[in-house]
This record gives sequence, structure tokens and C-alpha cells, in this order.
Amino acid sequence: MSEIEKKIDEYKNKIDSCSKVEELDSLKSDVLGKNGLINIEFKKLSDLPVEEKKSFAANINKIKHELSDIFRLKLVEILDKDIIDKVKKEKVDVTLPEKNFKIGKVHPVSQVIDEISCIFSEIGFSVEEGPDVENEYNNFTALNTPENHPAKDMHDTFYLDQDMKTLLRTHTSPVQIRTMLKGKPPFKIIAPGRTYRSDSDQTHTPMFHQLEGLQIDKNINMGHLKGCLNYFIKEFFEIDKIKMRFRPSHFPFTEPSAEVDIGYRLENNKIIIGEGDKWLEILGCGMVHPNVLKNCKIDSNKFQGFAFGIGIDRLAMLKYGINDLRSFFECDYRWLNHYGFDPLDVPTNYRGLSR
Ligand code: DAH
Repeated sequence: MSEIEKKIDEYKNKIDSCSKVEELDSLKSDVLGKNGLINIEFKKLSDLPVEEKKSFAANINKIKHELSDIFRLKLVEILDKDIIDKVKKEKVDVTLPEKNFKIGKVHPVSQVIDEISCIFSEIGFSVEEGPDVENEYNNFTALNTPENHPAKDMHDTFYLDQDMKTLLRTHTSPVQIRTMLKGKPPFKIIAPGRTYRSDSDQTHTPMFHQLEGLQIDKNINMGHLKGCLNYFIKEFFEIDKIKMRFRPSHFPFTEPSAEVDIGYRLENNKIIIGEGDKWLEILGCGMVHPNVLKNCKIDSNKFQGFAFGIGIDRLAMLKYGINDLRSFFECDYRWLNHYGFDPLDVPTNYRGLSR
């Protein structure tokens, strides 16, 4: 083995055991650098006899290319290993519980929908849903709303076509129709969801939330409605005693109809529910009109029932002391951080709804 071959072998061993890029760079400069091993060999060319020059140069060039390849592969190997080590170090066990749960918050409207669903599910109501884009029939006609009713006015309703046949639902009541048309009585459902009306001020937004309730069965009367709402309001506000009054009202889809107020008083500008002599309207309700049952192919001599419609946003404002409805929909992260709820603290009746 020639002198140069011996040296190259030594370098190959050094490269092989090298584990750092800087170390490899320094070896590379020793071998392939300006004053490195290979260039020193090339310099010997001038002293060689002509007939040896060619094979000598070819040999050195071969060694040079071979070493360049070795350096390149080693560099890739070292960099790959660095990445693998880094990935190993940073590996996350996704099956472990998260340490930082406080990142996201549940919006008060979602929280209140969960709370209400939980309260009604305790007494046998199931949850139904309907689309935001509704047809005129389900939203008005099937609900016994006369042709010239003010609610059908363009100023209130967002119509989606010239013929005024498709619209953004103005209330969740069409879910009553959808539910009754697709099944057979008895029915016992609630339907939360988005509703739309052309209106905007401190207590109205063009999109808001309602919750519809419907119970149809044999021998259902107004007493059942009263008992149900009484239970709901007590559970929702998490108080033992409430003041509630039914005021006669009118809705095309119920007969008789009523609006329900709850009693409250103000203390340092805070609303205290269940005491005092002030009244606040929170929902509309009544006994389902026989025409509505007829439109849903239900014999009103055999079945009757009650329905109610609650403004969800209003309940959220009352329960959690939020005084501008518009702030609900401004998507202000600071607001959500303040009024939002812990996503893991899901409301349940046995643990308390809003702890
Ligand atoms: N749909 C009514 C509204 O948006 C609320 C309502 C009143 C719903 C009485 C009902 C009801 O189911 O029985 O103003």
C-alpha cells in the first residue's frame, strides 16, 4: 500500500466515526481543501516523468471523487441523524392528557343551548334540528299564519327569491311542522337553532337564537305546559323559587296563546331573578292550533299539545349578566375569554349546570 493510500484509509476511518458536521468539515478541508492531501498529491505531478503523469493524475482524481462521495453521504447521514434525534426528543404522546386546557372557550350561547337541552332531556324531550334556509310553507302557511300577516312582510323576513317562497327562517317553529310531518304522535321535542329577522339594535340582531318546544299527545292541557315551563325556569336559573306569570297573547299557531314573564328585581344594576316586582318577558307559548295539527295530518280530536318558543340569547344575557346582545356576535376574543366557558365543564343536571 502506498503512502497516500495509507493516509486515505486513515481518513476514511476518521470520516466513518465522525458524528458532527463541524468535525466533518474540518476533515474535508484536510483532505479536499486548498492545502489538503489531494492538492499536495497533485503538486507532485510536475516532478513526475511524462509517462507516469497520466496514470498518476487519473488515480488521484479517482480517489478525489471517491472521497467527495464519502463526504457527501456522511453529511446526509449526520443531518438525518440530527433530525431523527430531534424528533425523538420532541415526540409527543398524544394519549396523555393535555396540560394547557384553557386555550379555547365555549360561547355563552352554546353553553346555554347545552344547559337547556340537558334540562329538557331530563323530562323526556329529545332534540330536533331544522335548516336555516326554509320554505314559506313550513315557516308561515303550515303554522296557520294568514297571507297578510305582518311577520311575512319583507321588512321582517329575509326572502331568498323573488317569489318569496324561500327564506331564512324567522323562528324555530317550522321544526314543529318538519317533526310532525315525518313521524307519528306522540311528540316531545325541543329544537334549538339560528333564526333571522331584519332588525338590529341593542336587543336585536339580524341573526339570533331560539329554542322551540313541542309536546303532542293524548289529553295534554295547559297545566302540562305550565308545569313544564315552571320546571324549566327553576332549573335554568338554578333557583328554588321563581315568579312566573302567563299573559294572554296571540300567535297564529297556538290557541290559546300566552307570553311568559318572570319576576325580578334590580340590585346595583344586577338582575336578581325570582324576587321583586318587575317583570321580564322570556317566551311565547300556547296550545297548538288545530289547523296546525291538520296541516300535519294529525287528528286534533285525538291528539293535542303545547308549544313554546324561547329566545336563547336573551336567556344567556339574563343568566350571565351580559347587557349588549350585539357583543355576542362580534367575535371579540377578549369578550369570549371573559364570558366563555371551560370546554371540559359540560353542563349536567347532577353536577350543576353553570359551575
Ligand atoms: N315563533 C314565535 C316567535 O318567534 C315564538 C313562539 C310563540 C313559539 C308561541 C311557539 C309558541 O311555539 O307556541 O315569536
